Amino acid sequence: MNSLRKEQVARALREARDQTLNLLRQVPDEFLKVRVHGFYSPIGWHFGHIGMTEEYWVCVRACGEAQLDDKLAFLFANIPDNPKDNRVNLPDRAQILDYLAQTRERTLRALETANLESDQFFLKDAYAWEFALQHEYQHQETIAELLQLIHQQQPLPKSLPEPFPWRSEHQTEWVEIPGGVFERGAHDPHAYDNECPAHKVEVKPFRLAKTPVTAFEWSLFMQEGGYARKELWSAAGWAWKEAENARMPEYWFRDSREDSYYFFGSMGLRAIRPEESVQAVSWYEAEAFARWSGARLPEEVEWEYAARAVPGEESSRPYPWGIALPDHTLASFGFHEWQPALVGSKPLGVSAFGILGMAGSVWEWTASPFLPYPGFRAYPYDGYSKDHMDGNHYVCRGGSWATSARILRSSFRNWYVPTYRQGFLGVRLAEAR
Ligand code: AVJ
Ligand code: FE
Repeated sequence: MNSLRKEQVARALREARDQTLNLLRQVPDEFLKVRVHGFYSPIGWHFGHIGMTEEYWVCVRACGEAQLDDKLAFLFANIPDNPKDNRVNLPDRAQILDYLAQTRERTLRALETANLESDQFFLKDAYAWEFALQHEYQHQETIAELLQLIHQQQPLPKSLPEPFPWRSEHQTEWVEIPGGVFERGAHDPHAYDNECPAHKVEVKPFRLAKTPVTAFEWSLFMQEGGYARKELWSAAGWAWKEAENARMPEYWFRDSREDSYYFFGSMGLRAIRPEESVQAVSWYEAEAFARWSGARLPEEVEWEYAARAVPGEESSRPYPWGIALPDHTLASFGFHEWQPALVGSKPLGVSAFGILGMAGSVWEWTASPFLPYPGFRAYPYDGYSKDHMDGNHYVCRGGSWATSARILRSSFRNWYVPTYRQGFLGVRLAEAR
């Protein structure tokens, strides 16, 4: 039993690492140590941070060993004593690769001798290794965001990609969601602290859009003065938009000679498909778009209910479609497509209430600040969730095209400040009934 479990954990770690190394190969040398944006550490730092974090929780906390290299461990720590400006003093690519390999070797060796049936929190059922695994996958998304910023900062290619004709017949359908009671949150011992404890909640009836907002719909908002009409924006949102001079989603590029739109994606400049989910918008933009539409953003609890509840039952399912593990017929995730899905394109992934696209493609902003559930306890450290439960972060749900299957569960909570628009962040509208 123990050895089968160990085999699974080791295989999952190797699979995650293949993707991490694939991402590292896409980083141009001249960008490895550069802070390309004020929110972010240099892209190279994230790779070392993945190795350091895994080694810390596994070797130090679960197994009581020392770390391989204290200096590198400090350099790769996300702590106030190591501000992002210090993190540019990175070793070269070969040394980062070496650090990743050596820390991994230590965590796999620790796994071989560990007692996963121990009562020790970090050993029990391989908690430390599973935490490291999900952490690595989360940083892969951040790395993919940084690749977009890197492409955005490089000179435009001499010839633009062939644009898609900018039209769309797509109409958003509204789905009536009846009120009810369901269980939100997670029982999984490897879920994050912020998903726990699972508990029953009541949800009032509402309407939810069957599909996320498309890039084409967002272009209508732009054309109808969405970024110029103050009445559509909150005071804070307007102030942000003015300071940022935002007129389009982040990474959009418009060729004004023709009505065509491009996106600085993680793999370079590409033409936007009119019916893909819009991405790279801030919470403030999402709020203004919703007001322009005569709608609102869904509450976090509404979102989770529509994704995983079953009408007439109080139990919840792990994924919108049920209990089957994610695959690419059900959702767009795990770097399978390197761009958001066309809305409505994965009908097999439909939720019990008839909603599409609730796993993968783009994270969906909710109206709700990131706050603890009743009975919340912070682990494995306050800096993971608790320190961000300050009312200044908003929850987004559902995962993106870059999210791994391992963290695509419908109880998963992500969060950002309302000015953050550099990620794979989209919008789904709701209405009171
Ligand atoms: C939950 C995505 C906001 O990247 O800051 C990574 C995840 N926490 N390492 C982040 C995280 C610690 C976190 N987000
Ligand atoms: Fe981290």
